[in-house]
Amino acid sequence: MTYKIGSIPGDGIGPEVAREGLKVLAAAAELDGFRYELVDYPYSGEYYLKTKELVPDSVIDEWRTLDAVLLGAIGHPDVEPGLVERSVILGLRFGLDMYINLRPIKLYSEHLCPIKDKKPEDVEFVVVRENTEGLYSQIGGHLKKGTADEVALINGVYTWKGCERACRYAFEVARKRAAARGGGGRAPQVTLVDKDNAIRPHDIWDRALAHVAKDYPDVQTDHAYVDACCMWMVKNPEWFDVIVTTNMFGDIITDLGAMIQGGMGIAASGNIHPGQTSMFEPIHGSAPKHAGKNVACPLGMISAVSMMLDFLGEEKSAARIEGAVAHLLGSGQITSADTRSGISTSDMGDMVVGEIRAKA
Ligand code: IPM
Ligand code: MG
Repeated sequence: MTYKIGSIPGDGIGPEVAREGLKVLAAAAELDGFRYELVDYPYSGEYYLKTKELVPDSVIDEWRTLDAVLLGAIGHPDVEPGLVERSVILGLRFGLDMYINLRPIKLYSEHLCPIKDKKPEDVEFVVVRENTEGLYSQIGGHLKKGTADEVALINGVYTWKGCERACRYAFEVARKRAAARGGGGRAPQVTLVDKDNAIRPHDIWDRALAHVAKDYPDVQTDHAYVDACCMWMVKNPEWFDVIVTTNMFGDIITDLGAMIQGGMGIAASGNIHPGQTSMFEPIHGSAPKHAGKNVACPLGMISAVSMMLDFLGEEKSAARIEGAVAHLLGSGQITSADTRSGISTSDMGDMVVGEIRAKA
């Protein structure tokens, strides 16, 4: 079988990091003997400026026939904010019903953590971000725009189906993680993060969690308001195992999560619909100021490739790549996951390839 993988390098540092991700993918395929075919898509702010073209519906349909999509980054300073991001990123997430955004927060080496005395075992959890609803619903608009009487409205949409399937996915992840710990270590736990003290309809999440929890008596449940969650993520990140949360809160807390795991340059994510086309991307943006300089850290993109392979069932390959990233950071060969590492984007990709070959 040949995997059909869409590639959307995008804007800014996107193409540079995507190149390294594809380099690592090619090396992994060679070592583990799987085949894939890449389908390139030009959509980006840059492309929009040249062609005025966003993603047409026909392409969304074409994406449904792919096994997975790899995305670099989208966002251009000369394009109206969010226009192309909504078309490409939200086009994929909403159009293909990628209802989970899985964001591991994993510290590979103590020296990468800005929090005093926190070790890799203390920063090791995952965020399950609901990915198709909430404040991202796009249901809203403006009244009397541009006047003193302007009204701007946006609806937060939370469906039972959306909450239920996100919670179920979180419990499954908690079980899988506990199994990977081999019966040792902490008990599996799902923490629901919302704001149902101030935003009362968020209680649909509590009820969905309690409903799903009945099927997972082996998994503990916990609850935190999102503001408190930010505090705990810095004070006691070791308390978390799996967090399940709304689209908006998941967006926010995973930038914080990226910082405690070593920076935006290392954090990866999977936009997942189990059994269907899913999309994998670093969580960072296009970082225009670093574009074209071969200085961006490609480890987030490379980790996204690892997540994609795990999703496709190439677990061995996925583990190889993750192991290489962990080793290069843990051994101090890569001192930081940002532009200060002194290692170019392309050299870092080569280092990961060298490491997976050396350990093969
Ligand atoms: C992310 C990004 C996106 C989001 C933007 C680019 C639309 O911040 O993937 O976290 O808000 O989800
Ligand atoms: Mg974000």
